[in-house]
Amino acid sequence: MWFKPWKQTKDNLQDQVAMDRLPRHIAIIMDGNGRWAQKRALPRSMGHRAGVEALRKIVKACSNLGIQVLTVYAFSTENWNRPKDEVGILMKLLTDYLRKELDELHQNKVVVRAIGILNDLPLEAQRELERAVERTKNNSGLVLNLALNYGGRSEIVDAVKKLSRDVLDGKHQIEEINEKRFSDMLFTGGLPDPDLLIRTSGEMRLSNFLLWQLAYTEIVVVEEYWPDFGQKSLLEAIKAYQSRDRRFGGIHTN
Ligand code: IPE
Ligand code: IPE
Ligand code: MG
Repeated sequence: MWFKPWKQTKDNLQDQVAMDRLPRHIAIIMDGNGRWAQKRALPRSMGHRAGVEALRKIVKACSNLGIQVLTVYAFSTENWNRPKDEVGILMKLLTDYLRKELDELHQNKVVVRAIGILNDLPLEAQRELERAVERTKNNSGLVLNLALNYGGRSEIVDAVKKLSRDVLDGKHQIEEINEKRFSDMLFTGGLPDPDLLIRTSGEMRLSNFLLWQLAYTEIVVVEEYWPDFGQKSLLEAIKAYQSRDRRFGGIHTN
C-alpha cells in the first residue's frame, strides 16, 4: 500500500527544542492569507491556497515533534461576513484538503477532530469532515483539531444552555457546576487547554478564539503571514514558549 511516513526529520527537530518541555497543545490563529496575496498582487484566493500548504507543513512538523494537540482556527463565526465568493473558496479548500490529505493523515496516526457549529457548514464539507473524523478516531498520534465556523462566545453560551438544561432536568444541582464541568461542556471537552497560542501576521487580538481555554496560555505573535509560516518559525515559537516563566498566578519560592 502507498505509504508516506513523516518520521524522517524527527532527529533534526529534536536538536532544536527541549523535547522534555514541549507544549502539549498548540493553538494557531492562521492569519494573513489575504495580505500575503495582496503583497504579490494576487487574488485573495491564492493566499488561502498557499495557506493550506502552510497548514500541511505545520501538521507534519507537529506530528513529527510529538505534539499531542494542534488546534487551528480555519474559519470563524464572523468570517461569514466576507464576500460570498471568498467564503465559497474557503469551504472548497477545506473539502479538498480533507479529501486529498486523509490517507496521509491516517497513515501517520493523526486523529482529525473539528470544533465549531459544524451543522451550518456546506453539506459536502460536513460529509468530508465526518468521514475524516470517523476514519481516524482510533488513531494514537497528533490530534488535529480544526476550528470551523467556530466562535468562542457562542461556544460559551451553548455550554451555559446545556448546563441549564441539565439542571432543569434534575441531572445536577446548580452548586455542582464548577470549572471542570463547564470545560467538559465546551467543544474542547477532554482536551488539555492550549499551552501555546501562535498568531501570525502581527495582530495582537484573539478574534473570538478559544476565549475560555486560553486563560493561561502563552501567546506568541509573529509578523510573518500565515503562508510564510514554516517548520523553522514553529520551532522559534516553541523556543519562545520554552523561555517563558509560567507562574499561573503563583510565585517562585526558591
Ligand atoms: C486568514 O487569513 C484566513 C481566514 C481568516 C480564513 P485572512 O483571510 O484573514 O488574511 P488577512 O488577514 O486578510 O491578511
Ligand atoms: C481570525 O482571523 C480567524 C481565522 C484565522 C480563521 P480574522 O482575519 O478573521 O480576524 P480579524 O478580523 O482580523 O480579527
Ligand atoms: Mg485576517
